[in-house]
Amino acid sequence: MTYFLAIETSCDETAAAVFTEDLTILANVVASQTDLHARFGGVVPEVAARAHLQRLLPVIDDALRQAGITLQQVGCIAVLNSPGLVGALLVGVSAAKALALALDVPLVAGNHIEAHIYACRLAAGRDIFPCVGLVVSGGHTSLFHCRSPLAFDLLGATIDDAAGEAFDKVASILDLGFPGGPAVEREAISGDPKAFRFPRSFLREERLDFSFSGLKTAVLYAVHGQGATRGGPPLTPQRRADLAASFQQAVVDVLTAKAGQALESTALTCLAVGGGVAANRCLRNALEAMSRQRGVELFIPPMDLCTDNAAMAAITVEKWRRRDWAASDLDAVPS
Ligand code: KG4
Ligand code: ZN
Repeated sequence: MTYFLAIETSCDETAAAVFTEDLTILANVVASQTDLHARFGGVVPEVAARAHLQRLLPVIDDALRQAGITLQQVGCIAVLNSPGLVGALLVGVSAAKALALALDVPLVAGNHIEAHIYACRLAAGRDIFPCVGLVVSGGHTSLFHCRSPLAFDLLGATIDDAAGEAFDKVASILDLGFPGGPAVEREAISGDPKAFRFPRSFLREERLDFSFSGLKTAVLYAVHGQGATRGGPPLTPQRRADLAASFQQAVVDVLTAKAGQALESTALTCLAVGGGVAANRCLRNALEAMSRQRGVELFIPPMDLCTDNAAMAAITVEKWRRRDWAASDLDAVPS
């Protein structure tokens, strides 16, 4: 049995995991940096990189301890080397290379976005391919035709903001704090999703792309007045909740409709959803309803496998099987 030690440092979570070639997860440790970035209202790349540098080795130690193995028992190092903040990625990629060299074991590299889909495979405990993959995170909103763990064809993506980014920006407009997704979701519970009629970009078009920047601006103007980016009457609690609920509904409507269109255009009968926004209850409910109606099998991982983690780097096991190892000049690729 080969033990994999996986590293993920693409954004603001320092993560390490241990799993085996049969995809049993023995440890999945995530050190969140939310507290460090909250006062800036968003992730500060240099702060993220330096925090990874401080935390990565302790996080790896923790993962090995939880898995009950020693570093010498590790038979392969896995790393997600793209996409992400380059300074943050460099920390994880450098550590992975150094470990592979020191232990004299293979290094395998994977793509962070594809790994978010693979989290569905891990959670399901069985094959999910071929499927439509929807990744909704802070950095990406993309639809794929996932032929196999090694063959993802992009069907469409956001042309501006990612869905999670829109949640974070709207949270900031509504003074709900950081990170925005969970805050908007909480606020929306007491709001009316039909109170405001916000735009739903490309909804009636065939293209499988997304755009959320117009929606974000519409929320901004609803708060401050048409064309204004500040001022206006103070928000009442009900109006704030209505804005959160109406915004969330617009995002959910678009994501659900586009996932449905992708299923139709590919004639696939499986949908796999990953990324931090997949933790959203309203989105999960809407995707469940749509999938049921279409007779499609839906895979969404539990929360800890939706948000950034290193266990999803198990997508690299498929490469390892083919001896498709990363070269010693492996780069950190931001996009
Ligand atoms: O996948 P992820 O952890 O990191 C990236 O790869 O970007 O996603 C983080 C994003 C953030 O924008 C966060 O606001 C959003 O996921 N998010 C949510 C929820 N939980 C996290 N968005 C909506 N509802 C949630 N419950
Ligand atoms: Zn992510």
